[in-house]
Amino acid sequence: MCGIVGYIGKKQASPILLDGLKRLEYRGYDSAGMAVWAGNSFGRLRGPGKVSQLAGQLNNQPLAGTAGIAHTRWATHGVPSEANAHPHADVSNEVYVVHNGIIENYQALQAGLKSKGVEFTSETDSEVLAHLVKKFLGPGVTIEEAVRLALRLVQGTYALLVMAANDPDKIVAARQSSPLRLGVGNDEFIIASDPSAIARHTRQVVTLNDGELLIIDRNGYYISELNGENGARKVERSPELIDWNLDEADRGGYEHHMLKEIFEQPDTIRNSMRGRLIIEDGQAKLGGLSTVEDRLRGIKRLHIVACGTASYAAMVGEYMLEEYAGVPAEVSSASEFRYRKPILDPTQDAVLVLSQSGETADTLAAVREAKEKGVMTLGIVNVIGSSIARETDAGVYNHAGPEIGVATTKVFTSQLTVLALLTLYLGRQRGMSMVMGNRIGQELLSLPDKIEKILEQSDSIAALAKKYSQAKNFFFLGRKYNFPLALEGALKLKEISYIHAEGTASGELKHGPLALVEPSFPSFFIAPQDSVYAKNISNMEEVKARQGKVLVIATEGDEQIKSVADDVIYIPKTLEMLTPILTAIPLQVFAYYLANELGRDVDKPRNLAKSVTVE
Ligand code: M6R
Repeated sequence: MCGIVGYIGKKQASPILLDGLKRLEYRGYDSAGMAVWAGNSFGRLRGPGKVSQLAGQLNNQPLAGTAGIAHTRWATHGVPSEANAHPHADVSNEVYVVHNGIIENYQALQAGLKSKGVEFTSETDSEVLAHLVKKFLGPGVTIEEAVRLALRLVQGTYALLVMAANDPDKIVAARQSSPLRLGVGNDEFIIASDPSAIARHTRQVVTLNDGELLIIDRNGYYISELNGENGARKVERSPELIDWNLDEADRGGYEHHMLKEIFEQPDTIRNSMRGRLIIEDGQAKLGGLSTVEDRLRGIKRLHIVACGTASYAAMVGEYMLEEYAGVPAEVSSASEFRYRKPILDPTQDAVLVLSQSGETADTLAAVREAKEKGVMTLGIVNVIGSSIARETDAGVYNHAGPEIGVATTKVFTSQLTVLALLTLYLGRQRGMSMVMGNRIGQELLSLPDKIEKILEQSDSIAALAKKYSQAKNFFFLGRKYNFPLALEGALKLKEISYIHAEGTASGELKHGPLALVEPSFPSFFIAPQDSVYAKNISNMEEVKARQGKVLVIATEGDEQIKSVADDVIYIPKTLEMLTPILTAIPLQVFAYYLANELGRDVDKPRNLAKSVTVE
């Protein structure tokens, strides 16, 4: 949550910082600000609202200077307001700080500073950092030393950038559990929460690790340990070349990133499978798992851990792995995983985490918990080089490209695709026949074209979304492989439209939820012709008998469904275990158009952020 960016070089800093903030805005967008060194003092602009509002402020009051720091906020402590917006400064406006994370002991630190007469102007946890750094700055103490001393008092998580008037040609950065990357250009440096803010300037990137301090000046950078036994021991790290296509991150003519990302799915699924299927052998080749291939043969239980949409993909994966690979699997919400004291056996269990961003705090904590218990960790991650990708023992990248819309779409179907490949991989290790492997592989290859066909219906799905847009509540219902899709359909609708939606297993309806059904409470069934089709039909009948409206995703050619459904969206036939990759598409398109119909900010829904780096 929150995006931070800093620049030091020969160009004017504010346009570069502003562009960086726009690219990081998906991380948080309730307030924004920047501070630029103007030659003899800092100029600062900040306020509530999106980055576009900061751009307006900058138009009226440009900030000149070639070094500065900036922030786009997702509030954790204190409402969105000018005072709570970053950068925060100390009382004498000499030290400026932008921070992503949470300072857990800020109240104690604040109390100590207040008792020495320091006045606080915001309700944030972050402001304490500016005052602490200022406290330690003094004759003979460099800004990096002051930051180091301040952070020794701090408990919590942070990615932070600090500038100070006594040494304004320097940006000091530090990281603990929140991402930070440095772009190394020609006579310039740009540091940011993720590479999207860096890629248009340089592809040479240095990733900062937890517990490290980075000092950037006009001539270069160096990294040192924050708390190492040897104090400021220097860490050597050269830049790596990152392959990040900027065009992919732009909207490309679509009204919203979410819509563009929905329509990209035929390609993203192709990319997730590329080079990974050996059709003639009915096999999947997952290079990222080659180092643990033998250990995987001995795995007796897979704990799959993720948050939100990724956890629904995990649930589909659980069904796939148990039914087709014969691997016992168990899904946990990452936010619960380490608190519920999971029983993990290092000799025969593995923990698999799923994360688009690779930075979700709860999911990362689950990886660390598993590693502490000596259990092998695997990741299915989209963002290359992210914390989870780096900390897991082995893993598979989604290769779905940057996902900017806060509501995840293309990475969800990519996760399902990679889970199907993993099922093939583990299944073939455990006696799945080549014929079955070949069948799954062939079906996987046919999915992109089938998704194209579903997307061709987006106008009629948009019309349905309009028809149902006045409903105040929705049920999403499905069974077996499509039960997690019911959860996902409900999440997608509520997060971008703000309509109450409940995802339920169809078979659970009669155990309570059915009491809610009445004519204005529509039920959206996911009912392809699979092994639970007939059961789903009975559940639809139960809803119809209570005058409930029934909207269904069904298999092409299913005429019977029309006798019970008010509206039908057809998808092509595929293997039962792969149906979620197809049923996801109409659910996403429906949620998108309904939210758009209601005039919601689809890419940046209220109260949310793309990358949840706080617990
Ligand atoms: O980056 P991650 O995949 O770890 O994020 C997990 C969830 O926060 C995420 O899937 C969230 O539920 C989405 N906004 C839903 O669309």
